[in-house]
Amino acid sequence: MALLHSSLCSCCAFFLLAFTFLQAPRVYGRETENRYVVGVRSLLPSSVCSSPRDSNPSMMRVVHRHGPCSPLSPSRKPADVKLLNQDQDRVNWLQRQISIASNGTRASLSATIPANSGGSIGTGNYVVKVGFGTPKNDFTVIFDTGSDITWIQCKPCSGRNCYPQQDPLFDPSQSSTYSNISCSSPSCKKLDSRNCSAGSRCRYKIEYGDKSQSKGFFGSDTLTLTPSDVLPNFLFGCGDQSKGLFGRAAGLLGLGRRPVSLVSQSSPKYGGVFSYCIPSTSSKPGYLTLGSRRLSNVQFTPLRTFSNLPSFYFLDLVAIKVGGKQLPISSKVFSTAGTVLDSGTVISRLPPSAYAALQSAFRKQMTRYKMVPALSILDTCYDFTGYDTVSVPTVALMFGGGTTLNVDFSGILYVPNVSQACLAFAPNGDAKDFGIIGNAQQKRFNVVYDIANRRIGFGANGCN
Ligand SMILES: *[C@@H]1O[C@H](CO)[C@@H](O)[C@H](O)[C@H]1NC(C)=O
Ligand SMILES: *[C@@H]1O[C@H](CO)[C@@H](O)[C@H](O)[C@H]1NC(C)=O
Ligand SMILES: *[C@@H]1O[C@H](CO)[C@@H](O)[C@H](O)[C@H]1NC(C)=O
Ligand SMILES: *[C@@H]1O[C@H](CO)[C@@H](O)[C@H](O)[C@H]1NC(C)=O
Repeated sequence: MALLHSSLCSCCAFFLLAFTFLQAPRVYGRETENRYVVGVRSLLPSSVCSSPRDSNPSMMRVVHRHGPCSPLSPSRKPADVKLLNQDQDRVNWLQRQISIASNGTRASLSATIPANSGGSIGTGNYVVKVGFGTPKNDFTVIFDTGSDITWIQCKPCSGRNCYPQQDPLFDPSQSSTYSNISCSSPSCKKLDSRNCSAGSRCRYKIEYGDKSQSKGFFGSDTLTLTPSDVLPNFLFGCGDQSKGLFGRAAGLLGLGRRPVSLVSQSSPKYGGVFSYCIPSTSSKPGYLTLGSRRLSNVQFTPLRTFSNLPSFYFLDLVAIKVGGKQLPISSKVFSTAGTVLDSGTVISRLPPSAYAALQSAFRKQMTRYKMVPALSILDTCYDFTGYDTVSVPTVALMFGGGTTLNVDFSGILYVPNVSQACLAFAPNGDAKDFGIIGNAQQKRFNVVYDIANRRIGFGANGCN
């Protein structure tokens, strides 16, 4: 019986290996229930977009800012170290807000700010295309679940007040459906940082960090997400002073929970539900969609909210498994800090003791590979040079309500090149800092934010 079992297994492993070899790029199998086996050639993204055109016009197409599917003109991808340092800037920004909201009792910020990383927030590295105005003009914008107001740079915007963007600036005077918002209007009062200009026009201001910000007039116009998702009178910022790490994107789509966010504004139509899928590599597209169109095969966990942190989506991380085995971490470690689900952070952050347990278990199951030095915030890196395939333990994140997120292979390792493949998790500086589920670990899942029913869902195989 034992013999039969083991020969079945090796046969199965052989099949999966063969499959991995034949089906490049990036098809992978499992050697056992608890390890992924992946062809090394498939670890690096292709330089060609696998699906250059929209296959499903009923959803917004989500692509990586710096990948071959990006509508932003081929820009040189910043070095990985720089991208990872920017990721830490975003984490610092998120944690600073939570620290302020909780009266400074949490988040040891000074301990976690890396030296000289720029001080600007990385606002996320995935973009979608949306249309503003009548007639509609398309703009490529960053989407962000960690902030609320949607804004694009608008005319008039002189000289250095606006950063260079790829799309022509939106000109509200050319749109027949654009309206100004007056200071006394209830719409203006939805902003928490507002101001009045001469003529009593409402102005917005949002700061994402020391150096990234957007200011301008608050207005409304028709927002066209897809041919069938058209939102008249959508409130947004018409930026005339913006700077920061927005790349060549025209602005930002805010998917937080406050009244001014896209989700809240569209909730009469879509019931306060949206979902997205982050693709496994920058050479493939994912999607973003409003409403409950994609709820099959989704496992849910309760959404936690805090009134003093009105933008963020918290969930209950309760345990982690590596190679199928649950790590010895007290669930108190997670509940002390809390965990935020964020689309704009790349690498998930864990309480220090939880990360230590993950790092140790992962390293024990990777002893066959040579370790190489750390890459920025990632301290568990391997050299895969000379291997045709590699075998990596699975990682699962377990949430309240019995929901398990079996992290896709593309979310376990961050791979700048074959000679440096790093475990894509990092520790927080302090046990009281909250954890973050970053977009790397969300890859390929249909991630559902169902605010009305106070739940977050994960559906496997949402996209490639
Ligand atoms: C912060 O302080 C205010 C007023 O003292 C209090 O009402 C609030 O609950 C505190 N917030 C936290 C998270 O401790
Ligand atoms: C908005 O206000 C500006 C400045 O007063 C004005 O030039 C413009 O015509 C107004 N736009 C609309 C649609 O009322
Ligand atoms: C409001 O406008 C005034 C005058 O332009 C400026 O000094 C102030 O900083 C602004 N406040 C905000 C929140 O933008
Ligand atoms: C691999 O990537 C890392 C991080 O970007 C870099 O430091 C290293 O030099 C690269 N190695 C090779 C062989 O390209």
